[in-house]
Parts: sequence; structure tokens; C-alpha cells
Amino acid sequence: MIPENTIGNFSIRDEVGYVSLYKGKQHWTDDAPQSNQLQQVWLDKCWGKVLVGGLGTGYAARYLAQKQNVTEIIVVEIAQEVIDLVWPYIDTQGKGKIVCADIFEFLKKPIKIDTAYFDIYNNLGRKSVKEGNAKLKKLAEQWTQKIYFWRYK
Ligand SMILES: C[S@@+](CC[C@H](N)C(=O)[O-])C[C@H]1O[C@@H](n2cnc3c(N)ncnc32)[C@H](O)[C@@H]1O
Repeated sequence: MIPENTIGNFSIRDEVGYVSLYKGKQHWTDDAPQSNQLQQVWLDKCWGKVLVGGLGTGYAARYLAQKQNVTEIIVVEIAQEVIDLVWPYIDTQGKGKIVCADIFEFLKKPIKIDTAYFDIYNNLGRKSVKEGNAKLKKLAEQWTQKIYFWRYK
């Protein structure tokens, strides 16, 4: 379990049984069972070398690491504070690598991947998320056709 801690504007809070990630007073994400379940439908489709956009509380990386057909996981996270709070506690069974970068910039350079999963938005309206994901899809399509997004198709 990730321990409670604050770095800069970001905090991990113990919610008893799961943790939440906050930016300031704003709840960003958590690894409560119901949140995890929403991701699993997309994570189950990922295989091979997987690119993950957004670390959050690291559930996606942990879940993917447990899949036999996943060989490598590259997680791209924009906030170094989130990486420092979370990544040391994520067991990726030797398959994971973290990169501190904006996923939109990262995707401009060629990368050999089999599948991609993106979950970078926090509390934006459905419209903005769909627009952002459409941009991400256009960039990622250069490197794989198997692209999945949290919740929205
Ligand atoms: C909803 S959380 C991801 C939750 C994650 N799927 C999990 O399993 O815990 C979104 C994460 O994306 C990160 N993020 C936001 N914009 C980003 C960007 N442009 N590039 C990379 N990471 C970004 C945020 O800092 C945050 O950690």
C-alpha cells in the first residue's frame, strides 16, 4: 500500500482499504475497488509492450504487470511529485519503467509498442475529455492501432 505523504501540491491519503491522490484539495483519483473495476475492461485488452498515459495511484501498472501476456509497461506521468509519491510502491514484477513527461510530447517521437492505455484526465467535463482523447488517439495511431481510454471510447 502507498503510504500517506505530501510532496509539493500532491498528497496521498489513506482512505482505509484504499488510497486517494489529491492535488491541493482536489481529489484526482483513487484505487478503490469500484474505480479499479472501471479500468479493468480496458486493461484486459492490453498485451505485449504497453504504453500507459498517467500514473495516478498506479493501479493500471500493477494490474497490467500481473497479466501473463504483458511483457513491458512504459508509464508516462507528467508530475514528478506523483512519481515520487507512488512509483516506489508499485510492483511491476520487473516489467515497468516510468518516464516523467507530457504524454502529448512523448507521443511525437517514435516508440515501438503493441498496445496503449490512456487515463490522464481529472474532473474535466465529458466533452473536454473526448476532445483530449481524440488528440491522443491521433498521435498514438502512428505507433499502434490498439489504443484504449479510460471509460470513454
Ligand atoms: C486519473 S489519474 C490516472 C489513474 C491511473 N490509471 C491509475 O491506475 O491509478 C491521471 C494521471 O495522469 C497524469 N497526467 C495528466 N496529464 C498528463 C499528461 N499530459 N501527460 C502525462 N500524464 C498526465 C496526472 O498527473 C495523474 O497522475
